Amino acid sequence: MRAITLRKPDDWHLHFRDGQMLNETVPATARCFARAIVMPNLVPPVVNAEQALRYKQRIMDARPAGSDFMPLMTLYLTDQTSVADIRAAVESGVSAVKLYPAGATTNSDAAVTGLTPLYPVFEEMAELGMPLLIHGEVTDLQTDIFDREKQFIDEHLAPLTQAVSGLKIVFEHITTADAADFVLSCSERVGATITPQHLMLDRNDLLVGGIRPHNYCLPILKRNTHKLRLQEVIKSGSSKFFLGTDSAPHTRSAKESPCGCAGCYSAWSAIELYAQIFDDLGALDKLEAFASEHGPRFYGLDMNSQRITLIEQDWVIPEHIKLWDGETIVPFYAGQTCRWKLQ
Ligand code: NCD
Ligand code: ZN
Repeated sequence: MRAITLRKPDDWHLHFRDGQMLNETVPATARCFARAIVMPNLVPPVVNAEQALRYKQRIMDARPAGSDFMPLMTLYLTDQTSVADIRAAVESGVSAVKLYPAGATTNSDAAVTGLTPLYPVFEEMAELGMPLLIHGEVTDLQTDIFDREKQFIDEHLAPLTQAVSGLKIVFEHITTADAADFVLSCSERVGATITPQHLMLDRNDLLVGGIRPHNYCLPILKRNTHKLRLQEVIKSGSSKFFLGTDSAPHTRSAKESPCGCAGCYSAWSAIELYAQIFDDLGALDKLEAFASEHGPRFYGLDMNSQRITLIEQDWVIPEHIKLWDGETIVPFYAGQTCRWKLQ
């Protein structure tokens, strides 16, 4: 039986939600990740340091006994975010600021409507070394959903990297060859996270043979050639790309609906699926750097000293997860076999 031992990984893009849901989501991530960058798209969103610290405490309170899992908090950028908000966030130990274009995804109504007015805020972030995490899609209704990421690069991201060259940027959950190539063309201050679903699936997995709502996430799955390019860049071992699951739970009824929510809940199988992806690419030797080294190096944090071990052993991802109120969540890759298992 093959086994692989890794430095303990971190998840650089994650949705924990809030309230009782934390009792489900926090143990799922804390079982194998040492830290996670926690997305701020709650209702209402986490827009200042005080809210971020209170949210952090709720997450810490939901950790399993004995866990030393550490949430890394983010602020939700709005048109009103000020230089003073950024300074207060840095002082409070907030790790990053998340930019959602208004209307881009789940709970993004309060998000920014234009980037240029925020350039002074970005200058301050560059000065203080605070990373900007970007959901990179345009949201105008004229742009085809499959072109939204590419258009965001051309209209917003390329100009921003030119205008505020000292700013650290993570292009989150990239889905296209265009995004991968753009990140490669930038300085070392620009990196990207990649999810398991965008490495494993393409839009056929969403639409062929029937609509599969549990594969619906944003940015939407793209054509096969984009998936292949993402596989290539992780296989190359480039330090610009690192693990970010974008694990984003929604209840079964919210997903299996006439207007279903976007998000795949992958926390219970993510590190295992990444292992399978790297193994299938013949690049298992590149998994540790992607999962455990590139992220801390980008964020300027220490690497974890603990280790985890994965063994090659088939197991079936559960069909559903029961919640406290009788609702269920259908996890990502439900009912399918994963070849790697956390020991
Ligand atoms: C995320 C969510 O549900 O919060 N959904 C998703 O499809 N990825 C939001 C996001 O990261 O876009
Ligand atoms: Zn996300």
